[in-house]
Amino acid sequence: MTFEYAPALESRAIVSIQPKYGHFIGGKFVPGKKHFPTINPATEEILSHVALGAAVDIDKAVLAANKAYTKVWSKLSGKERGKYLYRIARILQERAREFAVLETLDNGKPIRETRDIDIPLVAAHFFYHAGWADKLDYAGLGHSPKPYGVAGQIIPWNFPMLMLAWKVAPALATGNTVVLKPAETTSLTALLFAEVCQQAELPEGVVNIVTGDGSTGATLVNHPGINKIAFTGSTEVGKKIARAIAATEKKATLELGGKGANIVFDDAPVDETVEGIVSGIFFNQGHVCCAGSRLILQESIADEIIEKLKARMAKIRVGDPLDKNTDLGAINSREQLSKIQELAKVGDSEGAERWSPQCNLSEKGYWFAPTIFTGVTQAHRIAQEEIFGPVLSILTFRTPQEAIEKANNTPFGLSAGVWSEKGSRVLWATQQLRAGVIWANTFNKFDPTSPFGGYKESGWGREGGKHGLAAYLKNGKETGGK
Ligand code: NAI
Ligand code: MG
Repeated sequence: MTFEYAPALESRAIVSIQPKYGHFIGGKFVPGKKHFPTINPATEEILSHVALGAAVDIDKAVLAANKAYTKVWSKLSGKERGKYLYRIARILQERAREFAVLETLDNGKPIRETRDIDIPLVAAHFFYHAGWADKLDYAGLGHSPKPYGVAGQIIPWNFPMLMLAWKVAPALATGNTVVLKPAETTSLTALLFAEVCQQAELPEGVVNIVTGDGSTGATLVNHPGINKIAFTGSTEVGKKIARAIAATEKKATLELGGKGANIVFDDAPVDETVEGIVSGIFFNQGHVCCAGSRLILQESIADEIIEKLKARMAKIRVGDPLDKNTDLGAINSREQLSKIQELAKVGDSEGAERWSPQCNLSEKGYWFAPTIFTGVTQAHRIAQEEIFGPVLSILTFRTPQEAIEKANNTPFGLSAGVWSEKGSRVLWATQQLRAGVIWANTFNKFDPTSPFGGYKESGWGREGGKHGLAAYLKNGKETGGK
């Protein structure tokens, strides 16, 4: 006898979406000129139209941020700044369900994740940084470290609110003001956050939000009034930003792509490991820069793990992101779906073997079944390039040294995972791996106290923890970055 889950839809009545949005500049919503649609990727329904920021909007926003910095924010004590951050954090908790539903509608990720992971972590980031605001002198970052001034912040679509929190909370705690540009497919929660800033009576101009596309982002990067840039997104755009600011005073942190290795030794606890593999690659549809997208299995246990993984994958529920039982939601955009489909085809043509469980995917919206490729070799593109979707490339190894060599053999160095019951083996492996974040016997765990960032083409600098504060302070140069 099998049991089926009855539909358990979260109501969308809690959110009210306006038909059209402008920018948030100087504490007010101001109309945009041109607009473009933002859709629900699970249904292709147009949710609203958001403004395409032009140079004049960026100019106004930078001016507002600069005025707020010189006249108000830089004059407030850390304790006063902290009060605003606490207030924002509490409002975010009060309005958590509204944010979770809106994020799910605009992004396509399951409500279970926005409700239980994204939005609670967003509030946690504001609480954590609120606590630092009046203690910066004691953070070990030098005596009386000073903010840079105006931070230009550009974020991606995979964790829209969480990336906003990663950017805005440390900037404000350290005394900077910001101009934030959300990703073009997921602007709505950032615009709701603008309402939270108003509700918290944050002084006008401390947070400014200009929506738009890559050209809006590039204008922000190149604006002479910006002192620091924080970017999360593709390595390709990260490189463009690095070039754009090369001969300037601008500081930058860049959080770019990854091709995380999840290494499983023969003594790993099998069932826990299978769960970790699933959350490593299928969490957030695999739209995760630190996803465990390369599974590196010790040869002697590979067959057993793959068999159990397939059985587990057959139970992943793909479907309506607003259903509380859904595990895997919609792919964020048509462009991203095409990229995933294309790279999966490359996997086929390179001779890897594709497997997916039977899934009934909706005709409307953008969907991709959870997928694994076995028989992958180091030279395959699907072992080297970021697919940024629910697609796992599986490789095997015989000796621990071989596992490390394979894991490190990519242009990236963001995350890795090690599975073994032997502590000494875990410690040995983590010391050999060139990755900024390494999990042992777990995967994809996040906490505001923990610095996050990568080596090589995965980026510059760290976000989160004390290291993340340093990236927003003049004396705080312990983070790398520029
Ligand atoms: P993207 O890097 O183009 O977009 C990220 C943000 O940068 C967006 O807000 C975008 O408007 C902005 N942007 C684009 N061009 C810019 C420019 N020249 N100057 C300043 N800002 C600019 O990423 P996209 O095209 O959405 O995704 C492409 C691939 O990038 C994905 O398939 C994935 O592999 C990777 N990616 C990685 C992310 C990560 O978290 N590391 C996040 C998003 C994408
Ligand atoms: Mg959207």
